[in-house]
Amino acid sequence: MDNEINPIDQILKLRELLKKYEYEYYVLNQSSVSDAEYDKLMNQLIDLESKYPQFITPDSPTQKVGGTFDSSFKKVRHNTPMLSLSNVYNEEEIRTFTKRIDDVIDNKLQEYVCECKIDGLSIALSYENGVLVKAATRGDGITGEDITLNAYNIASIPQHIPYYGNIEVRGEVYMSKHTLEELNIIQERQGKEPFANCRNAAAGSLRQLDYTITKQRNLETFIYTLVEPEKYEIKSQYEALQFMKKLGFCINKEAKIVHNVQEILDYIKDLGNKRNSLPYDIDGVVIKLNDLDQYSTIGYTAKAPKWATAYKFPPEEVPCKLLDIVFTVGRTGRITPNAVIEPTKVAGSTITRSTLHNEDYILSKDLRIGDTIYIHKAGDVIPEVGDVLLERRPKDAKPFKMIDTCPICKEKIYREEGEADYYCLNINCPARILESVIHFCDRKAMNIDGMGEANVKLLLDLNLIENIADIYQLYNHSYELKHIPGWGEKSVYNLLNAIENSKNNSLERLLFALGILQVGEKTAKILAKEFNNIDNLMNADMATLSNIDNIGPIMAKDIYNFFKEEKNIELINKLKSYGVNMVNLNAQKADSNSFFSGKTIVLTGTLSFMGRTEASNLLENECGAKMSGSVSKKTDLVIVGDNPGSKYDKALELNIKILTEEEFHNLLIEEGKILL
Ligand code: IVH
Repeated sequence: MDNEINPIDQILKLRELLKKYEYEYYVLNQSSVSDAEYDKLMNQLIDLESKYPQFITPDSPTQKVGGTFDSSFKKVRHNTPMLSLSNVYNEEEIRTFTKRIDDVIDNKLQEYVCECKIDGLSIALSYENGVLVKAATRGDGITGEDITLNAYNIASIPQHIPYYGNIEVRGEVYMSKHTLEELNIIQERQGKEPFANCRNAAAGSLRQLDYTITKQRNLETFIYTLVEPEKYEIKSQYEALQFMKKLGFCINKEAKIVHNVQEILDYIKDLGNKRNSLPYDIDGVVIKLNDLDQYSTIGYTAKAPKWATAYKFPPEEVPCKLLDIVFTVGRTGRITPNAVIEPTKVAGSTITRSTLHNEDYILSKDLRIGDTIYIHKAGDVIPEVGDVLLERRPKDAKPFKMIDTCPICKEKIYREEGEADYYCLNINCPARILESVIHFCDRKAMNIDGMGEANVKLLLDLNLIENIADIYQLYNHSYELKHIPGWGEKSVYNLLNAIENSKNNSLERLLFALGILQVGEKTAKILAKEFNNIDNLMNADMATLSNIDNIGPIMAKDIYNFFKEEKNIELINKLKSYGVNMVNLNAQKADSNSFFSGKTIVLTGTLSFMGRTEASNLLENECGAKMSGSVSKKTDLVIVGDNPGSKYDKALELNIKILTEEEFHNLLIEEGKILL
């Protein structure tokens, strides 16, 4: 990214990207970028903001720890902020880190503790007179989520410790590699998505409102921080680890005292060699100054201490054989080439396949069947193909040639000019039908439990369904269903029940589930709100569609075309006749007399009486407001909480009506939307 051109634009763009990635990481537990890519963007932002400090705002990702998102857990304020760690990637950066410490402290012979950087989620545990009274996630570092009940269900967290008085410790909740393997077998058996890695699985198992799920998931912990160690006359990090071990906490046994950069490098090397054989995932080494008395002298940035840092392992690149290139067909008919590779262990799991995106991607790398290629995991999650080892290319390896017919239905495939992808246009292609039924039933779409990929495939293979609408006729086949090996009375009852319940889903879920090109969850929500029922949407012309905020002409065209296609009209009519909800249930609830009704509103800053998502939902669903993420001339009202940031400034600049948190709170009480 060029730092010289319009820095404010670059800063805003970087912030937007980083916030998106933080949301994916902390809320969805599903990253679309690697840690290294995230860190690179964060470092670019740090550089730009230190060059242009006038643009630093409190809401910048550089100023706070990620994870500031709403959930249904009770909030808890941490007595001492839960900070994050700065990152280093090489020897030079480690030397800069230790030099900064040496420059502050006179004595140049520092001791450091090197520890595993466990890939899990941080947790804070508070004990009063030996009893566990509170467990919290990190959240935004200031406020976390109360997960006490979940913590009671993690075997390695002691509910009682032999210490009379108050004590808080912090550490990492993780899932072992072995537990993940077992869990994923169960997930797949139940037709559910497997977890991509130990961290996602730990997050999905800990942040569960139903704590019995946490209990089943066999989470484990490593505790590494003693809060306010001086209270217990503990002088060093290593001593703190031993003290906590004596109290009954699990302490990682790889922690080691080192004395200089060379010893730090040796530790990193040794741990790197051991990494794959450890029973848990690590993504680096945490280097902490051992002498706790020096912490206050060395100090902190807004996000992280200066007395510790995290060395991040580079992504592991492993050579492997490209055995074949095979093609899959998505629900839209898009053809995706995939690398079939010799089973290869990368960053802890065995890889056999990796996407090759499209024809151009393969040609740009000149990948040939038989080649030896490097493979790595982006963000330690998604396998990605790297370069070809040309010296190992077999003499007879032929250049790649794209297929010209659909691998499933054998009809001709097409690539439009300017597009990267080929499409199978046959709407009856079995692969397209399979993918569209899977998508329709997905958790984020109609959320039909028991209709994961394996079961959908089975039902199609057994001809019990031929298309989406048939799902709602499955009850006619309960006899056949009960006789599918391994299904039985109970699972058929549960499946039919889940199908029945899905009829009451919101309009936005249905619109997303239909798989209209370009219509993701967000657009589905906009359409449901704008049109209130499917008939209005089906009758909308191009001009009406493209006039809607956030819907561009290309998207409008795809939506318009979808509802003109005979097959789609037929599907919607069938679903309607089977009783699937086609109206916006929220709209009927919205109070048109509300002060907020019809207004375009932006919420900024933190509200003390309810979470931001909760407030947005209330305003949208019960008060009939339209929520927007940015302030513009079209904004009617900006509601300002604590630490509002740049949206507040923009509202002042554009002279937009501002409502304080107190005024907002009072109005909601007056309108009876919340109780006093
Ligand atoms: S110390 C103020 N030690 O890494 C420093 N963190 O990237 C507090 N982590 O939020 C953290 N292993 O969730 C520390 N041995 C370890 C760790 C560790 C994993 C996580 C932790 C932290 C994150 C920062």
